[in-house]
Formats: sequence, structure tokens, C-alpha cells
Amino acid sequence: MKSNPADIDGLDKSALPSHIAVIMDGNGRWAQKKLLNRVKGHEKGADTVRMVVRSCREIGISFLTLYAFSTENWQRPKVEVSALMVLLKKFLVSERQEMVINNIRFNVIGEKERLPANVQVEIQRTRDATKDNDGMYLNLALSYGARSEIVKAAREIARQVQSGRLSVDAITQKTISSHLYTADIPDPELLIRTGGEMRISNFLLWQIAYAEIAVTDTLWPDFTRNELIQILKEYQGRDRRFGRV
Ligand code: IPE
Ligand code: IPE
Ligand code: MG
Repeated sequence: MKSNPADIDGLDKSALPSHIAVIMDGNGRWAQKKLLNRVKGHEKGADTVRMVVRSCREIGISFLTLYAFSTENWQRPKVEVSALMVLLKKFLVSERQEMVINNIRFNVIGEKERLPANVQVEIQRTRDATKDNDGMYLNLALSYGARSEIVKAAREIARQVQSGRLSVDAITQKTISSHLYTADIPDPELLIRTGGEMRISNFLLWQIAYAEIAVTDTLWPDFTRNELIQILKEYQGRDRRFGRV
């Protein structure tokens, strides 16, 4: 993979977040501004996904979690949901080889069973093709909602208690974390949201307890590698106190 070292200048390689989570918002508004169909915005947004994945890999980020479709997004018009599913399938097929070559391990977090069968098949193929990679771990949040993730964890833990395999007093923060989709990866240190909204929209509620938040007005299709680097620089200048002085 080609990288331009000049672009990464000014970033302290030893103080990068290990896990970046991104709420990729603003595709619809990008299209509307150009008097295009919202779906055109999602198409352009897919190019930004490729660029961000590539950039994070080059910069040396270990874990990247991208919010692509929420449990609430199922309530959008049928045509938009279908178009998103078609795009998603295309993305999985067209990027598989690139992920293999670039040593990226692919995973999906969310209610996979609600996705169309053909998308589930492509997800499985991409997971299988990349399962031994250790360059960067890419999580796509699909049909993802943090509250249902926590409900799922609560049910699993309750079942263990009910069956006598776990005592109530043995339940710790670790127990909860280990029943989330993100059980095997660290919490994100940095959460980026494009599109300017100052909200979390049901994303990784437990995991972002101490994440630094960066919101940019830039709409997702317009987001650039340069802006990503700017946000990382700003992150490196922050004082993360974790409640201490
Ligand atoms: C984010 O862009 C992509 C998805 C939620 C699937 P939006 O489609 O939410 O774009 P806006 O917020 O309407 O501009
Ligand atoms: C959040 O964006 C979900 C994704 C980016 C996938 P939304 O556009 O769905 O969020 P709201 O509606 O602005 O809260
Ligand atoms: Mg939106």
C-alpha cells in the first residue's frame, strides 16, 4: 500500500488512539444539497469508507469501528433500506481482496440475523477470508443498537446466574464487557461524528464511557484524509483526566 509520509507528519505515532469509532452521518444531506437522490449520497459515502479504512491502516490504527446502519435505520423508507443493502453487498464483494492484501481483519457487530440472507453470506465470506489477518481490525456496525446489545448481554448473564454457573456477586464491569459484541477488543479512545449532530444515536453506549468526542460539520461524503489527521492531532493535544486532577 502506498503511503504519503508527509501527510502523517505532525502525528505522534506513539500516542495514537488504538480504537477509533466513527458515526458516518450526512450522506442524505450531501445528496439533497446537490439535488440528488439520497441514495447517491450513500454511494459517495461508500468511497469515503474506503478512504478512511485505508488511511487508518496506513496511519497505524489497530481497531476501527464504523457505524453503517442502526437498528433505528430499519424505519427508513423501504427503497432507501434496500439500496443500502445492495451497496453493502457490493462493498463486501469489492473490498474483500483489498482487505486480504492489506492484512485487515473484518467483523460485523449488530443484529446480523435481520440482514438480507445474501448480505449475511457476503459478511461470512469476508470474515472467513480475513480471519487470520492482524494488521487492523475493522468492525462494521450493521443493524446495530447499543441498547439491544446491552439487553442481549443482560439476558446471557441472567441465564448463567439462573443455571448456577455464575453468582450474582461475581458480576463485574468485565462480565458486562465480555458479553458485548466488542468483547475481544478495547474500548474506543476516540469517537468521531460527521454531519454536525451532537448526539450518540444509540452507538456503543457502554464502550464510549471515556472516549474523546470529535464532531465535525463536514458531511460524510466530503470527509477527507486530511481532516482525519487534523482530528487525530487535536486528540493528541487533549488532556484525558479520567476523573482525576
Ligand atoms: C448516514 O447518513 C448513513 C446512514 C445512517 C445509513 P444519513 O443517511 O443519516 O444522512 P443524513 O443525516 O440524512 O444527512
Ligand atoms: C446514525 O445516524 C446512524 C449511522 C450513522 C449509521 P442517523 O442519521 O441514523 O442518526 P440520527 O437519526 O441523526 O440520530
Ligand atoms: Mg443522519
